[in-house]
Amino acid sequence: MKVLDDILKIAFTQGLLLTTKQIKEEIKEFLLILDKVKPKVVLEIGTARGGTLLLFSNIAHEEAILISVDLYQTIEKRILFRYIGKEKQKIYLIQGDSHSIETLRKIGGILRDNKVDFLFIGNIFNSLPRGDYRKKDKRGRPITGFLPINNT
Ligand SMILES: C[S@@+](CC[C@H](N)C(=O)[O-])C[C@H]1O[C@@H](n2cnc3c(N)ncnc32)[C@H](O)[C@@H]1O
Repeated sequence: MKVLDDILKIAFTQGLLLTTKQIKEEIKEFLLILDKVKPKVVLEIGTARGGTLLLFSNIAHEEAILISVDLYQTIEKRILFRYIGKEKQKIYLIQGDSHSIETLRKIGGILRDNKVDFLFIGNIFNSLPRGDYRKKDKRGRPITGFLPINNT
């Protein structure tokens, strides 16, 4: 898959934004599985440099909504992500603690009636948001879909 290999090349070029420290073979294998599902709503906890978000946007549905939360979001990331993703995709960066009600409200405001298809909690050693995946949407429905928690 040529496009995926090109995108992986960017994501594994250290020193840039849009990079990741995931294990390349592992994330590639996972992206190939995700590619069959083409999630329409992606929620990531831990944007960091945006590497996995870049990869997920490449694999997600043409009209997917992608939300990525981090304690810290920089202006560079916000600008860059305006130009990332497929034409009809919507990418939202939320600055906040994934545990907080405020963050949950912001996510709910973006999701409206949509449910999360794929939740990725990325490498959060110190404050693994254990409760996040048990949270429910504003109508009390549990968040459903994939739940890969990368904690290596
Ligand atoms: C290892 S990085 C994520 C890696 C990234 N997904 C990638 O491209 O591979 C972990 C990120 O989680 C963020 N983080 C840690 N605790 C958090 C919390 N409670 N809420 C939101 N973000 C958090 C950190 O600021 C850090 O940027």
